[in-house]
Amino acid sequence: MPVKTIIVGNWKMNKTATEAVQFIHKLAPLVASSAPQVLLAVPYTAIFQADQAAKKTHIRIGAQNVHDLEEGAFTGEISSEMLKDAGAEFVIIGHSERRHIFNESDEFIHKKIVRALMADLMTILCVGETEVEHKEAKTKEVLERQLTSALKDLPKNTSNLVVAYEPVWAIGTGKSATSDLANDMHLFCRNCLIKYFGKKQANQIPILYGGSVKPSNIAEFMKQEHINGVLVGGASLDPKNFAKIVNY
Ligand code: PGA
Repeated sequence: MPVKTIIVGNWKMNKTATEAVQFIHKLAPLVASSAPQVLLAVPYTAIFQADQAAKKTHIRIGAQNVHDLEEGAFTGEISSEMLKDAGAEFVIIGHSERRHIFNESDEFIHKKIVRALMADLMTILCVGETEVEHKEAKTKEVLERQLTSALKDLPKNTSNLVVAYEPVWAIGTGKSATSDLANDMHLFCRNCLIKYFGKKQANQIPILYGGSVKPSNIAEFMKQEHINGVLVGGASLDPKNFAKIVNY
């Protein structure tokens, strides 16, 4: 069975709940008959209202981060159960901005993944090398380390997992990876997944590309054999732009 195509918008720290609802009302008719699964990772404060607004559409709402524990004295943090209760169906974990601006370690990311999967949230694990690592030809080493550490001890029949390859130097820079390079790295990630989960299970895990995806380059990425969808930051903030990506 071919893996499903997934297009995710990651709004980062943009849009109030009111703006999220307006956005969904504009986006929904534009993507009503589109084939890919459409996901929006909205700020925590917009999850509930965005989910309500998306109920009769095939847009699904999720979060951009989560804590690794169920509850407790962790001022400012949000648990998987809280996300689900607010209406989130998925969560992004290990985004490069979390790793590099908020110093999240591989170990912390691993714990979050375990908890999110236990809570039945679809989990989008982001991996990717920095510009320095890219220039030093360390990409595969970094991807293998991030994947191995994130997946450690997960049950071999884990479903509900998505991987996003996002070269850090391509995020928000307008400088996307070439689709050939991305395709090669996706194949590398696929092989790491096969090593861990075995072929049958690993081949069901969608691998998305992220980093300066826009309406003008989406088709090129989606033509590649090993790219199963995209994670879009900047270009997901405008409903018409985002719809062009979904309907590539
Ligand atoms: P970008 O962001 O599309 O703005 O490069 C991608 C991401 O951060 O997931």
